[in-house]
Amino acid sequence: MKRIIWATGAIVVVLVLVIGGIYAVSTSRLTARHEVTPPTLSIPDDPESIVRGEHLLTLSKCGECHGEDLAGKVIIDEPFLARLSGPNLTPAGPLGSQSDADLITAIRYGLSVEGQPLLGMPTAEHFHFSDAELVAMIAALRALPPVERTVPPQKVGLLFRALYLAGEIELVGLEQVDIHGPRPDPVPAEVSLPYGAHLARTGGCYSCHGEHLAGGPMAGAPPDFPPASNLTPDASGLAEWSEVDFVRSMRQGIRPDGSSIDPAMPWRYTQAMTDAELSALWLFLRSVSAAPYGQH
Ligand code: HEC
Ligand code: HEC
Repeated sequence: MKRIIWATGAIVVVLVLVIGGIYAVSTSRLTARHEVTPPTLSIPDDPESIVRGEHLLTLSKCGECHGEDLAGKVIIDEPFLARLSGPNLTPAGPLGSQSDADLITAIRYGLSVEGQPLLGMPTAEHFHFSDAELVAMIAALRALPPVERTVPPQKVGLLFRALYLAGEIELVGLEQVDIHGPRPDPVPAEVSLPYGAHLARTGGCYSCHGEHLAGGPMAGAPPDFPPASNLTPDASGLAEWSEVDFVRSMRQGIRPDGSSIDPAMPWRYTQAMTDAELSALWLFLRSVSAAPYGQH
């Protein structure tokens, strides 16, 4: 009897230490302060820049997390996992009182006005937007019609913290890029391989299709998500596809054999890509090395 009590006591102590450890280590990373010096950029307000910015906000799928009208949305709310919500990005929300530098810092570096990580923001994608693209996006945000909506604050549960520390889910996008490193040279928007690579990077193809674009199950995806497809010119990928097939898949969500692509593939957003953007992206996808399905 005594032994059982001792053993139970020991297990409880170990559990408390492990849980306490997970909270302590994850909190220090999730709330760490980062210093960056955002560039001084002037935000345009001409209609052409605003239209360009709206297009980029669509291709970046901001609406997936901030709501279709960008006025805020609860992304996930599960007790042991997390509650994550994309704040209201219209002028009626917190952005209304933030400076342009605050917005540059939030979008490019994934940092809040307090200099702490914005949890769940895909900074590994946004970081690659050029200055011109970034200011056009901010111009479009500033021009949104104001919508009153408040979302609940973020809360990260034990399981999400453990998965985050184990490297299974990415909660802090800025940890995946060198936010203090040099900025890449801007790429002209034209039908070219470098621009296709830029569109793949900023369009988030890597975050679902993997670092080699070879597809496979996605870490941290909801259980009803199918694995991502192989986008490389491998036999298990797009080897047999033509550009016309690719454009149809990105605009209508249909494969060459007529089957539909699951809406987990965000073709609702990629359908907004222009002919030139899709041609550039196809040029790029044709240039990557063929990799077997699921290669990491
Ligand atoms: C995968 C989900 C996701 C996507 C996609 C996303 N965001 Fe966010 N964003 C969030 C979450 C979650 C927060 C709140 C994070 C926090 O408070 O820790 C946030 C916060 C922000 C903030 C800070 C708001 C504030 O209250 O200070 C800005 C600005 C922002 N996002 C802009 C954008 C823009 C612009 C895009 C598209 C280019 C975008 N986001 C795409 C999830 C996302
Ligand atoms: C949010 C995750 C996500 C993002 C971002 C994403 N994809 Fe996908 N994609 C998927 C999933 C999941 C599938 C498989 C859907 C299915 O099985 O029906 C898929 C399928 C595809 C297919 C169909 C191939 C086939 O035969 O199944 C193409 C083409 C494709 N994606 C291209 C892209 C490109 C190019 C990008 C970047 C602009 C991109 N995807 C971004 C998740 C994503």
